[in-house]
Amino acid sequence: MRLVFVGPPGAGKGTHAKILSNRHKIPHISTGDILRARIKDGSDIGKIAKSYVESGGLVPDEVVIQMMKERLQEEDTKQGFILDGFPRTLRQAEAFDRALKQLSIRLTAVVDFKASLKTVLRRLTGRRVCPKCNTNYHVVNMPPKKNNMCDVCGEALVQRKDDLEETIRKRLEVYDKDTQPLVDYYRNTGLLQIVNADLEVEDLDKELESTLKSLTAV
Ligand code: AP5
Repeated sequence: MRLVFVGPPGAGKGTHAKILSNRHKIPHISTGDILRARIKDGSDIGKIAKSYVESGGLVPDEVVIQMMKERLQEEDTKQGFILDGFPRTLRQAEAFDRALKQLSIRLTAVVDFKASLKTVLRRLTGRRVCPKCNTNYHVVNMPPKKNNMCDVCGEALVQRKDDLEETIRKRLEVYDKDTQPLVDYYRNTGLLQIVNADLEVEDLDKELESTLKSLTAV
C-alpha cells in the first residue's frame, strides 16, 4: 500500500498514519517529523528549515523534494509507505509524480482528512508530543496514562512550538493557499479518497480501514 495523507494541520494525519503503519507494517514518513529531527540535530537542512517550521510557513520546495527523493529510495519503502505532510504544494506533487515514474511505482490512494475548523483548533491547542519518540497525545482526547509522561518511553511531553494560537492561524492560512489545491489535483487523477476526520480515533480508524479495504479489493 502506498498512501498519501493530506488535510489541514491537526486533522489527525500523523496519529492515524502511526496506527495504520503499526498495523500494516509499512513506514510512516512524516516530513514534519523529519524536519523537526533535522532542526534538533542542527544539520544543514535543519538550519534552513528552523525559521519556516517554527513560524508556520513552508520549507522551500527544493529542500523538501530532495529530502523526500532520498527517503523514498530507502529499503523500508519497498513494501509501501504512508506519506504524511508530503506533497504539500503543486510543485512538490509534480516532482513526486516524476520520482514515482522513475521508480516505476504507483500510489494506491491519496486520503483527504476533511475536518472542521472547530475540530482542528481543539486538537492542535490540546496536542502534546513526546520529544523523544514523537508519539502524539491530546490533553482531553488521548491523554497519557501518567501525568504528562510518554506511555512509550517515559519522557516528559511538550507542546510543539508551532502549536501556539497565532502560529496555528498562519499554518491554516498556508494550508488553504498552498496545499488545498492538491485535493483537486489528485481528484483529477482518480486517486482521491475523502474521510470524515471530525470522527473520534476509533471511528475514523474504522472508516480508514474500510476505505483501504475497498481499494485493495479492486
Ligand atoms: P507537520 O508536522 O506535517 O504538521 P501539519 O501538517 O501542520 O500537521 P500536524 O502534525 O499539525 O497535524 P496532524 O494532522 O498530523 O494531526 P495529529 O495526528 O498530530 O508540519 C510542520 C511544519 O513542517 C510545517 O508547518 C512546515 O513548516 C514544515 N513542513 C512539513 N512538511 C512540509 C512540506 N512537504 N513542505 C514544506 N514544509 C513542510 O493530531 C492532532 C491532535 O489531535 C493530537 O493531539 C491527537 O492526539 C489528536 N487526534 C488526532 N486524531 C484524532 C481523532 N480522530 N480524534 C480525536 N483526537 C485526535
